[in-house]
Amino acid sequence: MSKQYKVAVVGATGAVGETMLSILAERKFPASAVVAVASERSAGSRVAFGDDELVVQDLATFDPSSIDIALFSAGGAISKEYAPKFAAEGAVVIDNSSTFRYDDDVPLVVSEVNPDAAKARPRGIIANPNCSTMQLMVALAPIHRAYGIERINIATYQSASGAGRSGMEELGRQTAQLLSFQDIEPKKFQVQIAFNLIPQIDDFQDNGFTKEEMKLVWETRKILDDPTIGVNPTVVRVPVFYGHSEAVHIETREKITADAAHALLAKSPGVEVVDERKPGGYPTPVTHASGKDAVFVGRIREDLSHPRGLDLWVVSDNIRKGAALNAVQIAELLVADGLAPKADAS
Ligand code: A2P
Repeated sequence: MSKQYKVAVVGATGAVGETMLSILAERKFPASAVVAVASERSAGSRVAFGDDELVVQDLATFDPSSIDIALFSAGGAISKEYAPKFAAEGAVVIDNSSTFRYDDDVPLVVSEVNPDAAKARPRGIIANPNCSTMQLMVALAPIHRAYGIERINIATYQSASGAGRSGMEELGRQTAQLLSFQDIEPKKFQVQIAFNLIPQIDDFQDNGFTKEEMKLVWETRKILDDPTIGVNPTVVRVPVFYGHSEAVHIETREKITADAAHALLAKSPGVEVVDERKPGGYPTPVTHASGKDAVFVGRIREDLSHPRGLDLWVVSDNIRKGAALNAVQIAELLVADGLAPKADAS
């Protein structure tokens, strides 16, 4: 019998946590047990795990001593307090928050891009990148390796689900209210999100960029292990439920033609090229990405204004590849690398 692991999903009632559970079931992760953990508010309620249901445990009183792998997606404050406690008990923590991403002794891993980084984890914690960086890296790493990327200009179009379940609820609620001529009151987002665009995600930094924008800068350099790459981001929240889109303009050291980029990306892991240059022949969040695993790339063009510039349109499900799927893929890397379960059933 192959090794079996006891897995905890912390934040199991959230938008990412529930998808982590469904992906663990879908991919038949070798689990002897899967435990759903959330706050005291939802302790005792039930969440779906494949055809089964799991009773939610309260994180505050949960004993992590038997857990082999913990997938955390309950926000930064919870990760900061509890991830080290789980790691101290010998669990490998795969953390979806930004709390540990920029620490030198915490690897930041995209499964298709830098899987080997997951092997060195002195604190027992592996960080899952931000959803926008995740899909960007899957699309750009193959180009960077073959042609060298000097600079990335990116504008994102990020869906409401990136702000969690309450973000989606606010988009739905405001849409219904406005269509019935009622007043709306922004709560989760800074201003009205329904029928609007918001050029702010996360807090403003001293340099005028938002933290979500700086995540793209810091994480790209760490994942590609290249501090020289220039990244110039603008991030925008859009009234879409699932799926982030990105208009990406890169400048490479060596010229890459649109045809060469198409051919390279078509054979790259995790990428699906949809680029037919006809109406609908490009990926969108609704028609392609939502509920799917791949990172979709279309609108591949050579930049009219730069001899070594290339334009791409990159779309992916931010909850799946952008968060839950990559976390499960990191767990699969641990299994492939022979992680020893605490209770060895083999
Ligand atoms: P709960 O449903 O019990 O509040 P989302 O990102 O979709 O908003 O989800 C956030 C997740 O983080 C939920 O599962 C939520 O659980 C969980 N969470 C929030 N606060 C805590 C807490 N104090 N302890 C444990 N889990 C928490």
